[in-house]
Amino acid sequence: MLCTKINDSMNVLLLGSGGRENAIAWKIAQSPLLTKLYIAPGNAGTKDCGTNLDIDILNFALLKKHVLEKKINFVIVGPEEPLVKGIYDYFLADKELSHIPVIGPSAKAAALEGSKDFAKKFMAKYNIPTARYNTFTKETINEGVAFLRTLRPPHVLKADGLAAGKGVIIPLTTTGAENELKEMLLEEKFGAASSKVLVEEFLIGTELSVFVLTDGNTFHILPEAKDYKRIGENDTGLNTGGMGAISPVPFADAKFMDKVKERIIVPTVEGLKKEKLEYKGFIFFGLINCQGNPYVIEYNARMGDPETEVVIPRIKSDLLLLLHAVATKSLHKTHIEIDKNPAATVMMVSGGYPEEYEKGKEITGLDKVKDSMVFHAGTKMNGDKVVTNGGRVLAVTSIKPTLKEAIVASYESIAKINYEKKYYRRDIGKDVGA
Ligand code: AMP
Ligand code: GLY
Repeated sequence: MLCTKINDSMNVLLLGSGGRENAIAWKIAQSPLLTKLYIAPGNAGTKDCGTNLDIDILNFALLKKHVLEKKINFVIVGPEEPLVKGIYDYFLADKELSHIPVIGPSAKAAALEGSKDFAKKFMAKYNIPTARYNTFTKETINEGVAFLRTLRPPHVLKADGLAAGKGVIIPLTTTGAENELKEMLLEEKFGAASSKVLVEEFLIGTELSVFVLTDGNTFHILPEAKDYKRIGENDTGLNTGGMGAISPVPFADAKFMDKVKERIIVPTVEGLKKEKLEYKGFIFFGLINCQGNPYVIEYNARMGDPETEVVIPRIKSDLLLLLHAVATKSLHKTHIEIDKNPAATVMMVSGGYPEEYEKGKEITGLDKVKDSMVFHAGTKMNGDKVVTNGGRVLAVTSIKPTLKEAIVASYESIAKINYEKKYYRRDIGKDVGA
């Protein structure tokens, strides 16, 4: 392992403002390689890891101005939108920026997340196991209805493009699915994102998230995680951005993970190479375990949230060193050390989320938490007070010798933190017996 400075200075800019970015910022801030960390726009938690920059991360020209002014020489992208919109390519094409690595895929490769149709075609080409499907447009809606009728309900309908996590609909009846397909294609329910719609076979199994860090040649598999998407206990109610996560995932044993590697990860990384899709960053495999066999539900071109809040604390190695190796395509020279102890994160949200909720509620008790890490998701400073600023507010993570202890520690920490209408699920990890 290198332990001297890789560059004369490492001024890092991290893009994003959620719990994921707070966890990444927390980890990067511990690196002896770091000179200075900026987070744009960040939140009340990231400000303790570096300097927040209040800028719009989709305004690449503005980002450039700040990067040059602050002598930033390394960029890490948290969320998908800048990636799908081509931030990697923007830097590469600009004379003043092209020497600055951007951690994340090129826009063409980020289409693995940005276009579900593209992702499915890629999987078909490289024999990566996934649900049977077909893609339809306005013009082929009748074929779509006919295809739906060949599948057993529930049906899975997916808008092709990015739809803020809302583009997947699973109607329980064939009639419901036909109506939904019409709304998506003819009434543009998700705007341009649903100008193409995928109709997919419904897979039965338990989901998990697997993450890989790749330099385009080789990869490290990061700890896997399971997130809890529904707002209510026992996985009931509306879908959310994620209400908690655990890592490792008890059912993802060595045999299962070997299948994931052999059938999914290796063909994906090799496929990217063959297609000449430049990818230097995290690949998120949304998987489902169907009777011991992994299938891909979706790809994301980034880390998951709240999975990052359990994955990152379990990485013992220097993340900045690994990311630098990604940028210089020397990942094969590094190894990654993972903490064997399990991690659990419980998300504290605003009452009402994922529907209407209020912001600006003062958060107290953060200083009383000693046994957990509190990653901020939707917070900001109001004077010297930390206030809520989103639906998902705080991710409370604990690492302990057992998953059960980690979960108990997170709940004990949550009891010390208060704001009006705080809500959290009390059953994180219960489904896996923790
Ligand atoms: P996605 O945005 O593709 O992750 O889909 C959102 C959620 O829909 C997934 O996390 C799954 O719970 C569910 N889902 C998507 N595709 C399928 C499928 N083919 N079979 C069963 N559930 C699915
Ligand atoms: N936790 C799922 C996601 O980040 O998309």
